[in-house]
Amino acid sequence: MDVCVIGAGYVGLTTSAVLADLGHDVTCVDKNKDRIEILNRGICPIYEPGLEELIQKNRSRLTFSDGVGEAIRQNSVIYICVGTPPMPDGSTNLSYILSVIDDLATYIQSPKTIVTKSTVPLGTNEMIGELLTQKGVDRKQFNLVSNPEFLREGTAVYDMFNPDKTVVGLEDGDSESLQVMKALYDGIESPFVVTTLNDAELIKFSANAFLATKISFINEIARICDRSNADITTVASTIGLDPRIGRHFLQAGLGYGGSCFPKDLSSLIHSATNKGIKPAILEAAQYVNDTQLDYYIEKIKENLEDLSSKKVAVLGIAFKPDTDDIRSSRSVLLIEKLEELGLDVVAFDPKAKLPPETLQRTTQVDSINGATKDADCIVIATDWPVFKSLDWKEVKKEMKGTLIVDGRNCIDPSEVRKHGLLYVGVGRI
Ligand code: NAD
Ligand code: UGA
Repeated sequence: MDVCVIGAGYVGLTTSAVLADLGHDVTCVDKNKDRIEILNRGICPIYEPGLEELIQKNRSRLTFSDGVGEAIRQNSVIYICVGTPPMPDGSTNLSYILSVIDDLATYIQSPKTIVTKSTVPLGTNEMIGELLTQKGVDRKQFNLVSNPEFLREGTAVYDMFNPDKTVVGLEDGDSESLQVMKALYDGIESPFVVTTLNDAELIKFSANAFLATKISFINEIARICDRSNADITTVASTIGLDPRIGRHFLQAGLGYGGSCFPKDLSSLIHSATNKGIKPAILEAAQYVNDTQLDYYIEKIKENLEDLSSKKVAVLGIAFKPDTDDIRSSRSVLLIEKLEELGLDVVAFDPKAKLPPETLQRTTQVDSINGATKDADCIVIATDWPVFKSLDWKEVKKEMKGTLIVDGRNCIDPSEVRKHGLLYVGVGRI
């Protein structure tokens, strides 16, 4: 099939490369000319394992362009994969979606299947239909599909080839789009869930809200462990044996970051409140996450005592391992808070870069040793595998102090203590 993907970000690029690999002809468009230029030089503008290789493998069926109008005109399936960032009040900023609607209204001249993959609040797909009609597009010229995306950064390519479900929200009686969606994903094995547009939108938000709540739940239990001489890793792995609970997303630490959980939770809270519902559980999950950094800061303050002219090495800048994405990264927020306390912070990450405003005060170095040398304290803020296998004997020789703060509960305390270092995690004995 001929497909236009609007937005060459984490979701749009992965969607483009996977659809091309499945045999479709894909034009991926983005208004960011620099991004398109980089892609046309054969370089993937983001770090996502396997994505650059998949793009290169499928170049014969994959085109990159900044000509959004032309691509809309020429393709029968249009995927919307633009960003939906948060507004200051927690609601979703739909300006990128609205700009796509303007382009669609201008350039639709033949029948289109419009597939929304961006995460959009309840009612947005219906709104897209209404706006297109108001702008003069014949209602017979387009069908609307809500096809939310559940990939995780760091494993985006794998997740898109191996989804646990494919959710396809359709308008009443739209069997034509159902056939289109089945043809697009022919070759992907997963339960194909056909729903209404609204159900599909809410499925996406509920999934993210549930996972975020699970993380906050375990972080709250970890705080209780801290006061009870109990170990959160034993508690979490054991309750996770019950299949009704499951072992995933029970890793306690600095809390969840990233471009999705924080903003999607805020957006759902905003929508629920507007509908007259008090989202007590969602607000509690957000509260625990928002306060988890301060909980760690208190631990650092207690253990460093005098903070003046102390050097802290922060290992990890990305919001999770295997990505260069720093959007709502707990690590960046932690660094800013440590700087505010007057600490001298030196950061390292295998892939991610500190934002320019943070770099004004914090030094980013290009080796682990460059960060840990002479440090009074080391904080592991992202659980990159390379930090989990550090040689603590060597680290001890190089650092000035002894405090190791495990912001992801990802290292073995006994390994660290064995070398005369002080281990501090959350909820760990
Ligand atoms: P992103 O910021 O990485 O990419 C969005 C791209 O869209 C940017 O390159 C931007 O230049 C482009 N864009 C914006 N407006 C445009 C327009 N009018 N025309 C053409 N291009 C335009 O975003 P992302 O992380 O890929 O997320 C996209 C959507 O998918 C969001 O709604 C997000 O919530 C959702 N989502 C993201 C993930 C994830 O892991 N990143 C997973 C599932 C769902
Ligand atoms: C998340 C969801 O897992 C995806 O299904 C969803 O598609 C995506 O959001 C989205 O909508 O964008 P992602 O944000 O890429 O994916 O990464 P996760 O692996 O979910 O991690 C999110 C955050 O939670 C990270 O900061 C991670 O460190 C933290 N986390 C995760 C924990 O603190 N504990 C855990 O047990 C798991």
